[in-house]
Amino acid sequence: MSEKKIIIAIDGHSSCGKSTMAKSLAKKLGYVYIDTGAMYRVVTLVALRNGWLKNKVPDNNKVIASLKDIKITFKWDEQLGKNTTFLNGENVEDKIRQLEVSENVSPISTIAEVRYEMVRQQRENGKAKGIVMDGRDIGTVVFPNAELKIFMTASPKIRAQRRFDELTAKGDDVNFKEILANVEGRDKIDSTRAASPLKQANDALLLDNSNITREEQLEWTINKVKGITGEK
Ligand code: DC
Repeated sequence: MSEKKIIIAIDGHSSCGKSTMAKSLAKKLGYVYIDTGAMYRVVTLVALRNGWLKNKVPDNNKVIASLKDIKITFKWDEQLGKNTTFLNGENVEDKIRQLEVSENVSPISTIAEVRYEMVRQQRENGKAKGIVMDGRDIGTVVFPNAELKIFMTASPKIRAQRRFDELTAKGDDVNFKEILANVEGRDKIDSTRAASPLKQANDALLLDNSNITREEQLEWTINKVKGITGEK
């Protein structure tokens, strides 16, 4: 791949395969991958551990005061072939994916001071370029000058069907209508919150993967990267 390193910002709706795409892309290009959702999940884990969330309402002051003591790092786990998230050196990858964290991360991610600190750290990570970052506000707020911005989506029904298939394959007894309602509900929260709502940046390329395969979308994206770096 080319010597010219760029910043690639991937935003979009939940459950449309952003992280799968971002990881494959980073691997293919030899870039660093940063999962910004994991960062908001780490802050949520700290709040839960300290009892600062009651009925999904955070004690904002306590959460904000703790930010200076939260150091988030990522390491690529060769054996598992996946990114691992650390909180002050502790591997919290599995813990931040638990349902309790998923259910409480939205209110934490709406605290302006939390967003401010996460964005500061994300910008630090991007200084050296050669980075793929996925989230909700990467192309609009974190790196408005990113060389390549992609806004990913797929129809709510298709995203719900993919989650339904994933959970059913794991043996979970799930209801399609409930999953669809959850997907639509999260779209609404993400797009209407006051602090950095999810929206497509003016200069982001829209990638609707409702009817294309993972391989096709990766190839499409690699071609866009080559168009920017000048590689044939
Ligand atoms: O991508 P995810 O599901 O792991 O994200 C977890 C939560 O964090 C989700 O509610 C949206 C929020 N988030 C955000 O507000 N800004 C980001 N850049 C990434 C995630």
